[in-house]
Formats: sequence, structure tokens, C-alpha cells
Amino acid sequence: MHNAAIAALGLDWRYLACEVAPDDLPAAIAGARAMHFVGLNLTVPHKLLALPLVDVLDPSAEAWGAVNTVVFEAQDASGEWRPIGQIDHPRGPVRSRGYNTDADAIVLSLREDLAIEPRGARILLLGAGGAARAAALRLADEGVSELWLVNRTESKAAALADEITSRYPAVHAAVGYPDSSIEIILNATSAGLHPTDPLPIDLEAFPLNRADGVYDMIYRPAETALLSAARLAGCRVANGLGMLLHQGAAALDLWSGQTAPRDLMRAALEKEIYG
Ligand SMILES: NC(=O)c1ccc[n+]([C@@H]2O[C@H](COP(=O)([O-])OP(=O)(O)OC[C@H]3O[C@@H](n4cnc5c(N)ncnc54)[C@H](OP(=O)(O)O)[C@@H]3O)[C@@H](O)[C@H]2O)c1
Repeated sequence: MHNAAIAALGLDWRYLACEVAPDDLPAAIAGARAMHFVGLNLTVPHKLLALPLVDVLDPSAEAWGAVNTVVFEAQDASGEWRPIGQIDHPRGPVRSRGYNTDADAIVLSLREDLAIEPRGARILLLGAGGAARAAALRLADEGVSELWLVNRTESKAAALADEITSRYPAVHAAVGYPDSSIEIILNATSAGLHPTDPLPIDLEAFPLNRADGVYDMIYRPAETALLSAARLAGCRVANGLGMLLHQGAAALDLWSGQTAPRDLMRAALEKEIYG
């Protein structure tokens, strides 16, 4: 999706995928900076590891506690730090700025793909890893009324509930299943990536027809066992493709200073992932 958008924007750039071992992340970021890369996206398990490794943390990375986008910056003729991709011939020192574009992407995708407005919503969030934490904090910031947290390792859900309660006291955050109907179930676990995975939810504790919509952050397979059960239960369903699209498009906006063409990126993404 990035290379399709880069071509459409007329940029002489390439988006490449590199596999980096966690121990090598400091060297990889330093190397990219030395080579005047425009920026980086980071995925599992680098999003948390990168927090202390970037020179400047954007408020988005600080607030949502993870870095998924790095923008390399240099000083322009007036001495102002600007994205290196927006300076003609960058000279002098280069610094890295870490952003989080995942958190906004989940809210955008919920609105676009499920027509769910987070403000005032009651949400059951499955998972307590990096993506769940960013989603929980961002949704709390958006003004959800209730956030129910369920995770395989319950202590992690409890820690997240405590963090939400202390940062967003107006949100009712609790560990366990909701006691009434809700607007949305959001799966932020990795259960569903493989056909033999268990469902991330206990259907006896919370039947799916008690939720209006079910969103699964997983986008491959296109329909997880959770989404297929939710569809049969009459829920509106969406997978994580919209989230993937929006976090990527927002990163390209930051690097280029232009508005990345979302429709074209979505088409490229669907072709690449689903054929
Ligand atoms: N669409 C997108 O753009 C996008 C962006 C980010 C992430 N994601 C997806 O979101 C998911 C979580 O990513 P992450 O970065 O948060 O990963 P993570 O930090 O490794 O967290 C994984 C979460 O899944 C739970 N889990 C793993 N296996 C499980 C199983 N068999 N049964 C029940 N729970 C299980 C873990 O529970 P424990 O705490 O008990 O280990 C934890 O809560 C992944 O599927 C990832 O692909 C999608």
C-alpha cells in the first residue's frame, strides 16, 4: 500500500520490509538515521522497545505508550527541525521522532467500518498486549462510558484497568465480562491468527448477540472464527484492515507532508492481502 501511494504522490522513495532481531533494534534505527532514511514503521515486538530509543517522543507515542512510526528529522535553512523527507538536501545532524499512528487508526476504523461512535459506548476489549493497551487508552480518551477487559493473563487486564481508572476516572474500567448488552467487542488478542487458535472470548460468559458489533484487529484471515460466529449471531463485523490502512496512511502523511491517497492504498492492500 505504501509503494502504491508513494508512486501516486510522485516520490522517489521505496518502502521496504526488514526483519530485525529485538537486540539489533538500536543499531537498526541508528543505521537508518545514518543512511538518511525518511522514516520507519515498527511492528511486533519493536513498538515498546523503541520508546527509549528515539531522540524525541511525539505526544501520541507518549500518550498511547508505543512507537509504530519513526520520522527522521533534520534542520532546514532556518534551523527548524523538519521531516527529512520534506527537505531537499538535508545536511547536519539527523534526529528521530517517535509517533503512534495505531491508536487513532482504530478509532477511525471503528467509525468507518462499523459506524460505531466511541463516545459513550460500552466496549468489551479482549487482550491486554501492546495493541489492546493503545486501543483502551485511546478509546478512554475518546470518552467511552464502560470498558470491560478480558485477557488470558488476567493480571495484565487488571493493570490496564487500573491505568485507565487513574488516567480517565470518568470511564468505568473493569476486568471481566459486561453485565448487560454493549455496543462493541474488540478483539486485540492474537488468538485467531491460526485456524487452531481458541476463541478469545468465553461465549457462555458473554454470548455474541449481546453486542451490536464485533471488530477483530486481525485482518489475515479476513474472517476469523470470532468474526464468523459474530456474523452468524447477527452482529455487524469488521476486521483490522481499516486499522492497518489508517495507521500506514497517517505515517506516510507524516513523512511526506502530503495527504496519502487512502482509497488507492486500501485497494493495494486488499489486492496484496486477499488476492
Ligand atoms: N490491524 C492492525 O493494524 C493491527 C495493529 C496492531 C496489532 N494488530 C493485531 O492485534 C493483535 C495483538 O497485537 P499486539 O501487538 O497487542 O500483541 P501482543 O502485545 O503480543 O499481545 C498479544 C495479546 O494476545 C493474547 N493472546 C495471545 N495468544 C492467545 C491465545 N491463544 N488465547 C487468548 N489470548 C491470547 C495475549 O494474552 P497474554 O497477555 O495472556 O499473553 C495478549 O493479550 C495481533 O493479532 C496483531 O496482529 C493489528
